[in-house]
Amino acid sequence: MGSIGQVWVDAIRPPIGTAKLDGRLIAVSNRVSRPTKAATAGGLAQALSEALRGGDGLWVGWSGEYGHAGHADNGFDFETVGDMAFGLLDIDPDTFRGYYEGYANSVLWPVFHGRPDLVARTDGDFSAYSTVNTAFAEAIARTAVPGDTIWVHDYHFLILASALRARGMGGPIGLFLHIPFPQPATFRTLPEARHIVRALAAYDTIGVQTRRDAVRLAETLASVGEGTIVTDRAGFRVLVHGSHVRIKVRPIGTQPREIEASLAKPPPEDVAAYLAFAARTYSLIGIDRLDYSKGIAHRIRGFERYLAADPARAGDTVFTQIAPLSRETVPAYSRERAEVEAEAGHLISRFGGLADSPFKLMTKGCDRVGVAHLLRGADAALVTPLADGMNLVAKEYVAAQDPADPGVLILSDMAGAAEDMTDALIIDPHDAEGIAAAIRASRAMPLGERRERHAALMKVVEATRVDRWVAACVADLAAD
Ligand code: G6P
Repeated sequence: MGSIGQVWVDAIRPPIGTAKLDGRLIAVSNRVSRPTKAATAGGLAQALSEALRGGDGLWVGWSGEYGHAGHADNGFDFETVGDMAFGLLDIDPDTFRGYYEGYANSVLWPVFHGRPDLVARTDGDFSAYSTVNTAFAEAIARTAVPGDTIWVHDYHFLILASALRARGMGGPIGLFLHIPFPQPATFRTLPEARHIVRALAAYDTIGVQTRRDAVRLAETLASVGEGTIVTDRAGFRVLVHGSHVRIKVRPIGTQPREIEASLAKPPPEDVAAYLAFAARTYSLIGIDRLDYSKGIAHRIRGFERYLAADPARAGDTVFTQIAPLSRETVPAYSRERAEVEAEAGHLISRFGGLADSPFKLMTKGCDRVGVAHLLRGADAALVTPLADGMNLVAKEYVAAQDPADPGVLILSDMAGAAEDMTDALIIDPHDAEGIAAAIRASRAMPLGERRERHAALMKVVEATRVDRWVAACVADLAAD
C-alpha cells in the first residue's frame, strides 16, 4: 500500500453509532457515490452515502475508470471527498465487461429477480467475475489491519469473503444483499450454484431485505450446501461447509431529513414548470431505473386501462414516468427500453390530444432536489416492480408528503417494501385491471384515510431509517 493510502486509511474510524467495532469499517460495493460526482441512479449508492456520511468510514469500489484489475501491483487509489474516504479500483475493459455486463447483470441479476429466461451467458464471464472479486480481495487484504470489519454489498461480490479468507483475513466479514434472493430451484439453475454457496459460507453474517429473502437464502444454503438450519433466540443461522452463517432481516430505508432538506431548496426550473402544470390535474409519478424488474411497461398498461374505463380522465390526469437509462450495453435492457417506448407511444397516440398528453416519459435522470419535489407534488406514486429488493422510491415518496394532505402510495406486493408498508394500496404488478382500480381508489380516497395511511407508513419509514439500518447491520457484524 502506498504511503498516501496509509495516511487515509489510518484516519478511518467507524462511523458514528458503531462504537461496538474494535477497528475500522470498510464498506465494499461495485458502485460508490462520490458527493462531487454526478448523481448515480440506484438505491444502494444513495443509501450507503447516507450511511457513511458524517462518519469516518472507508468505502471501496470500482473507480468508474478502466485500468488493470488483477495485476499484482494493483491496489486502491485513495481519495477523500468532504468527510468521506474512498478506495477506488480500476478494472480493465474486457474484465469489466465479463464481470459487470456479463456475470453480474446478465446472469445473477435475472436469476435473483426470478427471470432465469433472461439469462445470457458468455464464455469467460464467471472467470471475469472471479478475477474482479480476487482483485478486490487483494487490494482489501493490503489495506485492512487486524480488527477491521469488512461490510460487503450486493451480488457483485458473492465470492469476495472466501477470497479474503484465503488471504488470511480472520475478522468479521458481512454481506448485505440489496436485491431479492431467488427461490432455491431458481438459484439452482446457476451452473456455479455450489461454488457460490461454498463461497457464501465464508461470510459471518448475510443481511437481506425481507423475511421472504431470509427463508429462501437459508433453504438454498441448506439444500445446495447440504447445511443445517439452526434457529435460536438471535434469529437463524445455517451451519454450512463447517461455518455458521447468520442470516439477518434488515430492511433498508431512506433518510427523511435529507428529503426535507431537498424540499427546503427551490426545485430546478423544469421541475417547477412541470409542477405548475401537474397541479391542475390528478398527477401520478413513477421513478425507476429503466430495468425489466421494475414493471414499467405493465404499469403503463395499467394506466391505459384506467383511461380506457373513463376516457374523460385523459383531460384531467397526468402520469409521469421518469426512467433513467441503465446498463444500456446489456441486450435485455435495450429490449426493455423498446417495449416501454412502444407502450408509451401506444398510450400517447390513443389518449393524447393536440394541447397535451396524459402521459410523459423521461429517460434522463433528475437530481435529488428535483426528485424530492416531484414526489411531493404527485397525488399518487406508482411503485409497481415485478421484483425488487426493497424499493426506496416507495419510502421517499412517503417521506416527501405533506402529512396534512398526503398523496397515496400504490405499491407492488413484489417490492421488498410491501412486507412492512402494508398501509399502501397493495397491487399485483401483473394485473393491469388491479393497477387501474388502485388509481381510481387513490383518487377517491377521503383526506382522513389518506392521513391515516400516511401516518402508518411514516412509522415504517422512521423505523427503517438508513442511520438505524447501518447501526443494526454493524451491530450484527460486531456480534460474536
Ligand atoms: C440496484 C443494485 C445496486 C446497483 C444499482 C444501480 O440498486 O442493487 O447494486 O448499484 O441497482 O445499478 P448499476 O448497475 O448502475 O450500478
